[in-house]
Amino acid sequence: MNKEIDWKELGFSYIKADYSFVAYYKDGKWDDGNLVTDDKITISQASPCLHYGQQCFEGLKAYRHKNGEICMFRPDENSKRMNISCERILMPTIPEEFFIESCKRVVKANERFVPPYGSGATLYIRPYIIGVGDNIGVSPAKEYIFGIFVMPVGPYFKGGMSPVNFITTEYDRAAPMGTGSVKVGGNYAGSLMPHEEAVKKGYADCIYLDPATHTKIEEVGAANFFGITKDNVFVTPKSPSILQSITRKSLVYIAENYMGMKVEQRDVPIDSIDEFIEAGACGTAAVISPIGAVSHKGKKHVFYSETEVGEVTKKLYNTLTGIQTGDVEAPEGWIEKV
Ligand code: PLP
Ligand code: COI
Repeated sequence: MNKEIDWKELGFSYIKADYSFVAYYKDGKWDDGNLVTDDKITISQASPCLHYGQQCFEGLKAYRHKNGEICMFRPDENSKRMNISCERILMPTIPEEFFIESCKRVVKANERFVPPYGSGATLYIRPYIIGVGDNIGVSPAKEYIFGIFVMPVGPYFKGGMSPVNFITTEYDRAAPMGTGSVKVGGNYAGSLMPHEEAVKKGYADCIYLDPATHTKIEEVGAANFFGITKDNVFVTPKSPSILQSITRKSLVYIAENYMGMKVEQRDVPIDSIDEFIEAGACGTAAVISPIGAVSHKGKKHVFYSETEVGEVTKKLYNTLTGIQTGDVEAPEGWIEKV
């Protein structure tokens, strides 16, 4: 156990753990990778990841269960999504077993950073792949690094399970046939300014609308959107330019199979958001962040309340986090023991 960390005070900030994992891709194949204590990597200044954004990343978490075991949540899904990202920007994929075993190696080596059961904190795992080497022409790298680091985290949005407010932005995070559906760095570079503008205005983050028509909700910062209608339907956007959130996929399953709700993945017109009596942002880092209100074109739409969390959102949160921490029975294959 780590006595220096106040688990309850953690936000989402980098903390150097004891070990990271680094594997190299050379001559058409990955090596087995190694655990290293240095958290710095040295790469050529002509690396494509630095100039042309040839890189992708993932985010997943490890949880301490009541019996002391450490488990990861759906790492197979992160592996699949990372390979989809790799294919989109011409990087070599990572075999699923190698991905999962490498995550386990890093988590095990950093066991003292896994927050205790019941602390509300978790161990965030950040795998990434970067194109490296002397490759200054705009073409795919010939060499790559697959790295993984971990850090203990608390809530991503300051409120945690308290509602926070968002504002729509006129900027796009992705183009209709661009890279919005994959987890590549360029999407996030473009999001820095709209994020900062929203924060300066007093909001937790911005809401992106669909890039083609600016009439439908796409993403809530770095999280997916969901809303609950008065008829108890779980609604979430369907769009080719949003990241397919693993948290959202899990909530869809929970809504249908644990809570008996109807689920609709469809367009979510911004002009119809008053159809929702509750709303939330969901993602690995965000978990579920209840949305108090959304401001759009100078009008504020309050969902359930700006201070209280709605019953459905609460139940979704309790079921999801219960599954993740081993207190609620998980669907087969969702929990991977480290
Ligand atoms: N949308 C964006 C843009 C994200 O960066 C993330 C975070 O990974 C999500 C949604 C949520 O996805 P997941 O639930 O798989 O973490
Ligand atoms: C995640 O939820 O894992 C994310 O990647 C969101 C953000 C920290 C980029």
